[in-house]
Amino acid sequence: METATVKKGKVDISYKPAGRFEETRFEKIHNIIFENSADGSAVVAKEIADLIKEKQAKGKTCVLGLATGSSPIRVYRELVRMHNEEGLSFSNVISFNLDEYLPMEKDNRQSYHYFMHEHLFNHIDIDPNNVHIPNGTVTGDAIIEHCLDYERKIKEAGGLDFQLLGIGRTGHIGFNEPGSHHNSATRVITLDHITRVDAAPAFLGIDNVPRRAITMGIATVMSAKRIVLLGWGPNKADIIKKTIEGEISSQVPATYLQEHTNCTFVLDTGAASELTRHKTPWLVDESLTWNEQLTAKAIVWLCRQTGKSILSLTDKDYNDNGMSGLLTSQESYDLNIKMFNRLQHTITGWPGGKPNADDTNRPERALPESKRVIIFSPHPDDDVISMGGTFDRLVQQGHEVHVAYQTSGNIAVSDTEALKFAEIAKSINPSEEAQTIIDSIKAKKEADFDPLEVRKLKGNIRRGESFAATRYFGLDDANVHFLDLPFYETGAIKKNDLSDADVQIMVDLIKSIKPHQIYAAGDLADPHGTHKTCLDALFAALEELKGESYMDDCWVWLYRGAWHEWDTHEIEMAVPMSPDQVLRKRLAIFCHQSQKDGVMFQGDDSREFWMRAEERNKDTARKYNQLGMAEYEAMEGFVRYNFK
Ligand code: F6R
Repeated sequence: METATVKKGKVDISYKPAGRFEETRFEKIHNIIFENSADGSAVVAKEIADLIKEKQAKGKTCVLGLATGSSPIRVYRELVRMHNEEGLSFSNVISFNLDEYLPMEKDNRQSYHYFMHEHLFNHIDIDPNNVHIPNGTVTGDAIIEHCLDYERKIKEAGGLDFQLLGIGRTGHIGFNEPGSHHNSATRVITLDHITRVDAAPAFLGIDNVPRRAITMGIATVMSAKRIVLLGWGPNKADIIKKTIEGEISSQVPATYLQEHTNCTFVLDTGAASELTRHKTPWLVDESLTWNEQLTAKAIVWLCRQTGKSILSLTDKDYNDNGMSGLLTSQESYDLNIKMFNRLQHTITGWPGGKPNADDTNRPERALPESKRVIIFSPHPDDDVISMGGTFDRLVQQGHEVHVAYQTSGNIAVSDTEALKFAEIAKSINPSEEAQTIIDSIKAKKEADFDPLEVRKLKGNIRRGESFAATRYFGLDDANVHFLDLPFYETGAIKKNDLSDADVQIMVDLIKSIKPHQIYAAGDLADPHGTHKTCLDALFAALEELKGESYMDDCWVWLYRGAWHEWDTHEIEMAVPMSPDQVLRKRLAIFCHQSQKDGVMFQGDDSREFWMRAEERNKDTARKYNQLGMAEYEAMEGFVRYNFK
């Protein structure tokens, strides 16, 4: 993404007059894009803090509409920091939360009541009488009265000065699901299936997710004087595009925000990635500055658009599709050849470098012939799911391959699976420990956390499965490392923040192996953020290792596959697989039996991991082929990360 439109650090996101929001003819909502959610959240927190202080100075109350979910967490964290370190007081704040599940007890960990206290209210000086959250315990006729009363209280407080929003993949704001009317007020709503799927991991299964909720209405939200919607990560990219660029429709309730005169979307690059001005900037700006990356992206897109391969593109194709700027200093013929070669040079069957070969145009160095390689795998299975073909080749081509499983992955093993193993253990040795585990699994209730010994068993199940896969690829057990990074070991979906202890474990392993190549997951769309945290741990470790002489000779390659795939133009190394190699990869994934046949955390993709991987790898090969490359059965793609 070109950096000119991506904001870093402190930016003023104050109101611009209606009709002057649009950056392009496609966009209908003012939006600002940050490199990451931390920068965006800090700016939003500052806007809220400024508003509170401005009102304080005038002796007035400040009425905030607040959201829950993963999106606002960093904003709340920053507000708490400002309260602790900068004396920001919330004494004049009156808050109204958007929604609450129905039915829902206040002390249930999944309640929005619990969430708001855990993330904000318990840490600031807001008057508890000024906190309003829809009550998930009301029943029958009392619900209607409760909703009317909620609306009344907002009005009595003087109306919402500021409304913070997240957005669901259905396009809901609050819990205003598709179908919601723009005149709707606080009411009971039936949750959309997608919303329940998204909430399922937190509730340990979709069956436990409530079917209804109380939500402020669209009209309630729209009555706020100022609205800021937060959108983070590639999972939100599609709905953000529909909301900002689509027509207003009750099928995407967030599109109603197009009619609000003081609304800003604060996004990160992932969430903004489908917007026209980012995905295909040449369609909105003919005077673009073209660099090589953007040219590659545009040409891949142009081929898809015209159904042609690179070498068949004509001047007319470029001119008709906003890309005439590319032809001011070169002929389309030369440009086509250049781009064809660029793509061709990414393909190699020698991911560790080809011995005795000229490596000028190869993605990896020929020397040293035998490389020390670490494959970092966030969970015990990402290695084979995302780069099983490459892993297999690296071993067969004689490199010293190490696999490091960053987390234990214990939370993704079902109780049924764990019970099976505990009972087998007991049948071999009827020990007290085995019996304790069996009893505790049998007595477990839906929201209970596993005790330590059950978590350990679940982790061991995944270890056993990992060994089955790495042995299948011919790897020595001594080269398999289980890091069990502490940030993951909460026993819950919600993980701890990354700490020095996590980074140190990574540093120690890298120091002990002194690798020439590191592979890591750059797969940031996983639903629980574990891949992102594991990548952050690697980046922090690389930072710490700067200056170690062997790191000058270390190349880092990022893979994807379990949750999404690199775009073709991004790929810097493409490793093809034959049909037999595809099969070997599949069998290695099969070794992870606890993750087969409907895993606990499926996300919204109902395919098993081996199917997702295989279809993505075949698709990459198909895309290369459509661009004019040779026809391969499947391909794994990698992007190089430059850390020096
Ligand atoms: C939360 C709410 C929802 C969420 C939305 C996004 O109070 O009303 O609209 O904002 O579902 O959730 P996250 O932020 O978890 O992606």
